[in-house]
Amino acid sequence: MSEIKASAGKSGSAEPWGNNVLVEFEDGIAWVYLNRPDKRNAMSPALCSEMVSVLDALETDSRCGVLVLTGNGEAFSAGMDLKEYFRETDGGQHVDKMRVYRTASQFHWRILMQYYKPTIAMVNGWCFGGAFTPLISCDLAIAAEDAVFGVSEINWGIIPGGNVTKSLFSVMGRRDALYYIMTGQTFTGAKAAQMGIVNEAVPRDRLRSRTKEIALVLLEKNPTVLRQAKVAAKYIEEMSWDLANDYLTAKNEQAILIDPERGREKGLQGFLDDKRYRPGLENYRKDG
Ligand code: COA
Repeated sequence: MSEIKASAGKSGSAEPWGNNVLVEFEDGIAWVYLNRPDKRNAMSPALCSEMVSVLDALETDSRCGVLVLTGNGEAFSAGMDLKEYFRETDGGQHVDKMRVYRTASQFHWRILMQYYKPTIAMVNGWCFGGAFTPLISCDLAIAAEDAVFGVSEINWGIIPGGNVTKSLFSVMGRRDALYYIMTGQTFTGAKAAQMGIVNEAVPRDRLRSRTKEIALVLLEKNPTVLRQAKVAAKYIEEMSWDLANDYLTAKNEQAILIDPERGREKGLQGFLDDKRYRPGLENYRKDG
């Protein structure tokens, strides 16, 4: 993917992007680029901090209906910045190191995992180490078939922390996860799709158009119900069947109460009374 040159972050504006992160708006989609192409978008403390502010700002920005996280240039992200994130935080005050780690966690999973808007990771190239956590925290993920992935920590004398291991186990099988954690071998986007790390892998020249296609589908959905569905899906992963059943019932009732579009009522009316709505054949929001 060629590098994007200009950012929607305007100098002098209050928008928090424009340095380590760029944002472009297009048809309700916010394309968010990790922007250290010379460093293969390795994630420095400054980049993580900027991403926290960007996520915060876009959550209430009406130009962002779906957020796509990707990388500028040839990498999605080469993982944590080995110099700025590790070496330069060694030997200093422990509290300072913990604050840097906490900021990375905020970007990588605390905010992203339950983000208010739908999120798609678009893996355009190298994806290593710490980059797996934000990738997996996004709701959906699409990769270029020839993107190269690696849980490479073992090669650096560290284990996949920063919730990389936790996130891997949430999407892939134990054998595959342990194989790549223990060998540090790389794999392609096509293999990532087979293992469930991404939804799909597509030829590089279709990556952006396919991602946009999916984003536009999401933009057609009732946003309240979409949000409730994804939040619930993620929380129930760690619940018992009894708790999950009760929680899903409560979450559904909450959706009905807070949905300004009254989607359930309109859907039932369209199907049962007006006989004009057939799930799978037409979209009741489009149909009026
Ligand atoms: N941390 C810090 N700097 C990194 C980095 C990382 N994770 N990944 C790349 N960079 C820097 C390189 O040091 C180099 O900087 P320089 O130009 O100042 O020397 C620059 O980014 C370009 O990297 P380079 O290795 O020359 O690019 P490449 O295209 O030949 O290879 C990678 C790209 C991603 C395969 C390779 O950089 C790499 O293996 N990076 C480490 C990935 C990794 O294991 N990350 C997990 C860390 S836990």
